[in-house]
Amino acid sequence: MKNKIAILTGGGDCPGLNGVIRAVSKKAINEYDMEVIGIEDGYQGMIENRMRPLNYEAVSGILTLGGTILGTSNKANPYKYIAPDDSSAEPKDVSAQAIANLKKIGVDCLVCIGGDGTLKIAHRLCQDGIPIVGVPKTIDNDIRGTEVTFGFDTAVEIATEGIDRLHTTAQSHHRVMILEVMGRNAGWIALHAGIAGGGDVILIPEIPFDMDLVAQRVKERSHKGKRFSIIVVAEGARPKGGQVTVKKIVKDASEPVRLGGIGFTIADDIEKKTGLECRAVVMGHLQRGGSPSAYDRVLATELGTRVVDMIIDGKFGHMVGIQGGRMLDVPLEEVAKGPRLIPADHPLISAARSVGTCFGN
Ligand code: F6P
Repeated sequence: MKNKIAILTGGGDCPGLNGVIRAVSKKAINEYDMEVIGIEDGYQGMIENRMRPLNYEAVSGILTLGGTILGTSNKANPYKYIAPDDSSAEPKDVSAQAIANLKKIGVDCLVCIGGDGTLKIAHRLCQDGIPIVGVPKTIDNDIRGTEVTFGFDTAVEIATEGIDRLHTTAQSHHRVMILEVMGRNAGWIALHAGIAGGGDVILIPEIPFDMDLVAQRVKERSHKGKRFSIIVVAEGARPKGGQVTVKKIVKDASEPVRLGGIGFTIADDIEKKTGLECRAVVMGHLQRGGSPSAYDRVLATELGTRVVDMIIDGKFGHMVGIQGGRMLDVPLEEVAKGPRLIPADHPLISAARSVGTCFGN
């Protein structure tokens, strides 16, 4: 009998997910004659038993597509499940049912493509008897155990284009333009896009900022004849001694807090403190949508094919990571230790400071 693997994509979507689905499936089919099953909408489909075969045809022509052909959910957690039509109910542990759904069809291994939330659940499912391998995914690039995640490069490109476009209108109107980018815990997108776009101020969650220093930098530029400034801020950045800006609470999600809006607060404050006109723009989900960059397509293919080797070698309970430019197996429990933040002494922070970028501290 053929070996059978199942694939799911969980958490927020991310450019490159389809590249991973394609790489896993094609290698599993081409080189090992495996049967591949796609689980719809992440753990939601595993709980509700919504699965479909992924043959060669089904994964052909998807490398360049954004999103995920399988669908995803950033709410469903088999250990704390609230049915979509019952958001007032207490969370239930439906993991036994979810596991039984996989066992019933004889799945030998589950490939979980997801961020820290999805991979933490994968770790638990693995302890409960499902052989699992993981592929780290997030545009935020903040998963522990890997130096890079697919989707990040695409998000940085999109945010950088946003900064480039704000630059010209900022110059024309002599304004301060603020671009808010994603990054709940870590400021990797803000740091990379901010440097690539020549941002004058970059504000990241790892360095709480002083609004007076930001205003001072904007005024200094103005006095030197630079009548515009560009501020790039991660959604998770917060003022010294202050809190993050919460946009909404998604009650039935396992991570209920959604951030957003810090850019508008900064615009109001800087306008008051400097007398210069300010405008804020939120990049939001534009950073997650659309076709993956060439780099992310290559990375998705590398990670997806490597994970099939991990299945063959029985490296369950691990995800594929990249460290020092080389792929390696990382225990899933490593991911549970928290996000990968930008260290204070990161060379990109000093490089940015050297070209005059202000981090608000
Ligand atoms: O983790 C990826 C991410 O895009 C974060 O940067 C952002 O805070 C969050 O997901 C947004 O989630 P949602 O799609 O539920 O609004």
